[in-house]
Amino acid sequence: MGFVVIELLGLVGTVVLLILKSFVQFFIPPSRKDITGEIMFLTGAGSGLGRLMALKFARLGATVVCVDINETSNDETVQQIKSEGFKAYGYKCDCSSREDIYRVAELVKKQVGDVTMLINNAGIVSGKKFLETEDWMIQKSMDINTMAHFWTTKAFLPSMMEKNHGHIVTIASTAGLFGVCGLCDYCASKFGAVGFDESLNMELVALQKDGIHTTVVCPFFINTGMFDGVKSSTFSTAIFHTMARFFGVNSTICSKVIRSFAETIFPPPRKNISGEIVFLTGAGSGLGRLMALKFAKLGATIACVDINQSANEGVVREIKSLGFNAHGFKCDCSSREEIYRVAELVKKQVGDVTMLINNAGIVSGKKFLETEDWMIQKTMEVNTMAHFWTTKAFLPSMMVKNYGHVVTIASSAGFFGVPGLCDYCASKFGAAGFDESLNMELGALKKDGINTTVVCPYFMNTGMFEGVKTSILPTSTYHAMGDFFGINSSMDEFKGRT
Ligand SMILES: *[C@@H]1O[C@H](CO)[C@@H](O)[C@H](O)[C@H]1NC(C)=O
Ligand SMILES: *[C@@H]1O[C@H](CO)[C@@H](O)[C@H](O)[C@H]1NC(C)=O
Ligand SMILES: *[C@@H]1O[C@H](CO)[C@@H](O)[C@H](O)[C@H]1NC(C)=O
Ligand SMILES: *[C@@H]1O[C@H](CO)[C@@H](O)[C@H](O)[C@H]1NC(C)=O
Ligand SMILES: *[C@@H]1O[C@H](CO)[C@@H](O)[C@H](O)[C@H]1NC(C)=O
Ligand SMILES: *[C@@H]1O[C@H](CO)[C@@H](O)[C@H](O)[C@H]1NC(C)=O
Repeated sequence: MGFVVIELLGLVGTVVLLILKSFVQFFIPPSRKDITGEIMFLTGAGSGLGRLMALKFARLGATVVCVDINETSNDETVQQIKSEGFKAYGYKCDCSSREDIYRVAELVKKQVGDVTMLINNAGIVSGKKFLETEDWMIQKSMDINTMAHFWTTKAFLPSMMEKNHGHIVTIASTAGLFGVCGLCDYCASKFGAVGFDESLNMELVALQKDGIHTTVVCPFFINTGMFDGVKSSTFSTAIFHTMARFFGVNSTICSKVIRSFAETIFPPPRKNISGEIVFLTGAGSGLGRLMALKFAKLGATIACVDINQSANEGVVREIKSLGFNAHGFKCDCSSREEIYRVAELVKKQVGDVTMLINNAGIVSGKKFLETEDWMIQKTMEVNTMAHFWTTKAFLPSMMVKNYGHVVTIASSAGFFGVPGLCDYCASKFGAAGFDESLNMELGALKKDGINTTVVCPYFMNTGMFEGVKTSILPTSTYHAMGDFFGINSSMDEFKGRT
C-alpha cells in the first residue's frame, strides 16, 4: 500500500507542478533567457501565436527561421520582422510531410546555420465530433500536431547534442492535458506532443545533456484564429474550469489515474459480461491473451485479433478447448484499411461488437535518435491511430443501441515520460487523450450506456518490455509494485470498469 500512496502522491504532484509551471510561465515569464544570436526554427509562423512569437523573439535578438505552409502569410511575418530591422528567413513547408520537413531542415542548415531553438508550434484542428471527422483529417491532425515534432527534433537535435546547447519548445494546449469534448483527434495529438516532450526531457537528462532544455507550453484556447467558434470564456472562467476539472469535478486524467489505481486495489463489483461480443486486439500474447481467456471464461464471445496468426489461433484454440467462444482474425493494426476490413468480417461472422478492447501495442525501446523513422511511424499507428479506426468501426452500432464499452489499454508510460521510450510515450499519451476526449463527447451526447475505460498497467512482464530499465524509480520498486499488484494474478481481478 505504501508504494501506491507514494506513487499517487508523486503523480498528482507531477501533474500539479506541470500545470502550475505552465500557468506561471505563461503569465509571468521566467527570468528571460538571453536569446541573442540563437537560430530559431519556428513552425506555423504565418499566423496567430506563431507570428506573435516570431516578432517577439526577433526583437529579442534571435534569427528567426519562419516556417509555414502558407507562403503568403509566412512572407508577411518575415517582411514585418525585416522592416523592423531584425533577422528572419522564410521557408514554405508542409509539416504533415516528413520528407518536406527534412528537405526544409537541410536547406536551413545550409543557408542559415545550426538551429539552436526549435519551436514546434504549427497545429491544425478539425473541431468536429469524432464520428463526423473524416479519416484523412484525423491523420492530418496527428501528422502535424504530433508526428512533425519527431521529424523536426530528429533534424535539429544532433547538432544541439554536439554542442550541448539548445532548446526544444512544444506548443501544446490545455487540450494536451485534459480531454475536450468534440476534439478527439486534436486532444489525442496534443496529448501525444506532451508525452513526446516529457519523454525527450527525461532522455536528455539521462544522457546528461544539461545544456539542452525542453519546454512544453500549454496555452488555453487562444484567440488566434484557430479556435474561432469554440466558446472559450474569459480567462478566469478558463482557469476555474481547468481547476475544477483538475480537482475531479469532471473526468480528468487525474481522477482517471486515481480511479485506475483505486480499482486495482478495490475492484468494483464485477460487470456481468456474459453475452457480450468482445473485439480484442493483440490477443495473441501477453496481457491480450490473459484478457481473452478471462473474458471468455466470464461468458463473452471473443473476436481475437492479432498480426501473428499462429499465436492468435493458439489462443482461440485454448479458449475453445475450455468450452468457451472465440473467433480468430489476423489483422495488421498499423493499417487502417485492414482494420476496417477485419471489422466488416467480424460484424458479418460474429455480430455487433459491444466491447472494444484496444490492447495491441508495440514498443521499440530505443533512444530517440536511434529509433528509425518507420518504427516511430509504426508505433504511432498501432498504439494510437488504430484506436481511432477500431472505434470508428464499432462505435456506430453501440450508439444505435446506446450500449457498449470502449477500453484503452494504455500504460503508465501514458502518464509519465520514460527515457528511451519517446515514441511509445507519445503514442500512449495520445491513446489516453483519445479515451479522455471520447468519454467527454459521449457524455455530451448523452450516450450514458456507452462507457470508456483507460487501463494503465505498469510495465508488465508480458514480453513487450524485456530489457527496459527504468530510472524514474529503481527497477526493484517496479518489481516490488509488480509483485504487489500481482501482475499475473491481477488479471483475475481484471474486469473493466463498469
Ligand atoms: C494564406 O495567407 C493569406 C494571408 O494571411 C490568406 O489571405 C490566405 O487565405 C491564406 N491561404 C490559405 C490557403 O490559407
Ligand atoms: C464540467 O464542469 C463544468 C462546471 O464545473 C460543467 O459546466 C460542465 O458541464 C462539465 N462538463 C462535463 C462534460 O461534464
Ligand atoms: C449474467 O447475465 C446472464 C444473462 O444475461 C445470466 O444468465 C447470468 O446468470 C448472469 N451472471 C451473473 C454472475 O450474474
Ligand atoms: C508468432 O507467435 C509464435 C507463437 O507464440 C511465435 O513462436 C513466433 O515467433 C511469433 N512470430 C512472430 C513473427 O512474432
Ligand atoms: C456503464 O456504466 C454504468 C455505471 O457506471 C453501468 O450501469 C452500465 O451497465 C455500463 N454499461 C456498459 C455497456 O458497460
Ligand atoms: C506467475 O508468477 C509466478 C511466480 O512469479 C511464475 O512462476 C509464473 O510463471 C507466472 N505465471 C504466468 C502465467 O506468467
